[in-house]
Amino acid sequence: MKCYLLVLVVAYFHCFSTETLPKLTIDEFLNSTQYKSLSLSPDADYLLVHSLRPAWESNRYKDALWLYRTESTQKKLITNQLYPNIKPKWSPSGAWIYYLVDESSQTDPVNINERSRPVKNEKYIHLYNIISEETLLIEVGNHNPLAIAWGNDDNSLYFISIASSQEDNKVNQNEWKDVVQYRQRKPTDSTTLHRIDIKNKTHKISVKITTLTNIDFLVGELLLVPAENKLVFTSVSTLVENSHDFEIYALDLRNVSLLSRLTDNKMIEQNLQLSPDGKHLFFVISPIEPTGGKYNGTQNALDSVDLTTGVTEHWGKGFNGNIMGYTIRSQGGVYILGQLGVNVQIYVQQSSSKFVMLQHGWEGTYQLISSATSPHSLSIAFAHSSFESALEVYFVEHINQLYVAKAVTCENQLLRERNLPRAKVYRWINSEDDRTIEGILHYPPEKFECKNLPLFVLIHGGPSASSLNMLIGDWYSWAPLAATEGWLVFEPNYRGSAGYGDEFLSELIGHPLSRPGRDILAGVDSLIADGIADPNRLTVGGFSYGGFLTNWLITQTTRFNAAVSGAGPVEHVSLWGLMDMPVIIASYIGGYPWEIPETYYKESIMFKLGYVQTPTHIVSGANDLRVPPSESLTLERGLHYLGVPVKLLLFPNEGHDLTINPWHGKIKVREELKWLEKYGHPSLNKTKP
Ligand SMILES: *[C@@H]1O[C@H](CO)[C@@H](O)[C@H](O)[C@H]1NC(C)=O
Ligand SMILES: *[C@@H]1O[C@H](CO)[C@@H](O)[C@H](O)[C@H]1NC(C)=O
Ligand SMILES: *[C@@H]1O[C@H](CO)[C@@H](O)[C@H](O)[C@H]1NC(C)=O
Ligand SMILES: *[C@@H]1O[C@H](CO)[C@@H](O)[C@H](O)[C@H]1NC(C)=O
Ligand SMILES: *[C@@H]1O[C@H](CO)[C@@H](O)[C@H](O)[C@H]1NC(C)=O
Repeated sequence: MKCYLLVLVVAYFHCFSTETLPKLTIDEFLNSTQYKSLSLSPDADYLLVHSLRPAWESNRYKDALWLYRTESTQKKLITNQLYPNIKPKWSPSGAWIYYLVDESSQTDPVNINERSRPVKNEKYIHLYNIISEETLLIEVGNHNPLAIAWGNDDNSLYFISIASSQEDNKVNQNEWKDVVQYRQRKPTDSTTLHRIDIKNKTHKISVKITTLTNIDFLVGELLLVPAENKLVFTSVSTLVENSHDFEIYALDLRNVSLLSRLTDNKMIEQNLQLSPDGKHLFFVISPIEPTGGKYNGTQNALDSVDLTTGVTEHWGKGFNGNIMGYTIRSQGGVYILGQLGVNVQIYVQQSSSKFVMLQHGWEGTYQLISSATSPHSLSIAFAHSSFESALEVYFVEHINQLYVAKAVTCENQLLRERNLPRAKVYRWINSEDDRTIEGILHYPPEKFECKNLPLFVLIHGGPSASSLNMLIGDWYSWAPLAATEGWLVFEPNYRGSAGYGDEFLSELIGHPLSRPGRDILAGVDSLIADGIADPNRLTVGGFSYGGFLTNWLITQTTRFNAAVSGAGPVEHVSLWGLMDMPVIIASYIGGYPWEIPETYYKESIMFKLGYVQTPTHIVSGANDLRVPPSESLTLERGLHYLGVPVKLLLFPNEGHDLTINPWHGKIKVREELKWLEKYGHPSLNKTKP
């Protein structure tokens, strides 16, 4: 409640004067809390919140699970060591929650490898009782759970486990020693389904674990369908080489050798939820592979499958944007988190044949929506942020009350007490094909709508993501911090971004760098023509696909005084050959290297590197599987040979998302700001063509 009142007070002051608020510092900005998942109890009395914040002293991030009372916002910490890859879930009655603890975070804080990998030392499933506030530990031996689901009642659970990597090592040890036979199946490529039964006889608790069957693949999510006596689950794979590794399956519990596949598409299915009648399974789909040789990109969408007839329905009727999430309405239909342009709003759809309707609320970005399952409750919880309002979790008793939602959390209050930059949407035209492109301008504090400002173009990753109207204090979405340091930050939603229709998304295919790159250059031209950006103080940067585009842009123009490139590829063939998602590269370029070598050449970065004059700062996670660090090493070597100022930072143990050690993200941003400051301003030494 306190948080909510303060929001109003700060907003009020904004209209008159912001000068009294102190400047935002990098330490404050990167000390923010993020929310990873929310889950309302069936009757909406409680809200589970998974929060993530840096633990600077122990060189790691801390995943915590909190239980809030929705009516009072009283909170209780359940664990400070939540295992982040399995989402805690309410039992059918709402009396229990299951969760896992990340044992490795306790024993070996500096040496956690890849958070996305299956958990290594996990031996217990934790069951927390919200009434007695006690935790029951269920020992699962050396099985590493990958997915868990509640059974018909609070006394049973199902879980799918993976063999430990020690078992992996034992296989063929005499014949093959330590030799790796690549692409040969290993014990850790398949999984086992178990059932847990809990008996509570006269205060004596006994637990029985029964192994039901083996499954031939890795499993992502698991859900019981009581009406059909089936388990449904998603198949997943660590490498995204084939879309058929990602489907939904159903297993008949009356005869576990009866496994059927429910989907057959070129999509990844995620976020499984069951309709109130228990007969329809909902899931979000994201495309991963060209369809029929010719690729048409689509944004994320929502489908459901009738579990009796197998018929699939498409949801989101009349919505042309990107579906970021959803939750089931207890009265039927769904609430959808729909991204259109830079905002993510809540939409309601009562049935698949009806059109979606916007549920009016605040501008900005709604996330992580959760609804109560009880038919008597109309409550929902969500997270929200916007340019000038930091991320918090909110609760409403009725969807019509979005404007007066009550803040449940109050972790990012400090950001509300700082002199934040103001931001607005900016539009321009790429005259090549007359497409209107949209982006965001973050003005330095006190400089809103001022002219002739030094420009930093900050390019989002994806590419099928977008820069949004939100405020999250992390090393990736750091536009407010760069603006605070005096840059006009320009975030272009270039061709290939989501939230602007499927056609806009597909228009990057065949020219994955040149088309979005020209969208960005046209945006810079437009900002200069409008007198907003100073043509002598232009800089550029981005991470992942944003690094890819940064690397391409500096081969096309010398107009940028400085570049900060993160996890950006430079060579399409090696990227396709080495990355964990080769299907996306082939999709964007429009074919494999041997099919369309001309396109690989035409869109090249390395073959045009001789043109680069822009001092470039590079960062890469040393264990990045998405964009291997070899890409950054190649770029660094090229620029070094060319005599262009270059610096490469490698972050040990980090994958693509820099989720291991918060210092890595802080040092990244700190050094990038220094680089922009050092090289970004006009220099007499530089000659412009
Ligand atoms: C980060 O936030 C925590 C919790 O609010 C606080 O105790 C700590 O001093 C902060 N650290 C920095 C570097 O600001
Ligand atoms: C077991 O049953 C007793 C009596 O019904 C109850 O008080 C207790 O909370 C139960 N324990 C668990 C772990 O379910
Ligand atoms: C289970 O299904 C399999 C495959 O259809 C069949 O061969 C087997 O007889 C069934 N078992 C039972 C107990 O019905
Ligand atoms: C791709 O989209 C275009 C235009 O929207 C359409 O004409 C074409 O048939 C689509 N191709 C495929 C393979 O879906
Ligand atoms: C100009 O170049 C000289 C020699 O390379 C260097 O010492 C100096 O720092 C440069 N000046 C600026 C403003 O970059």
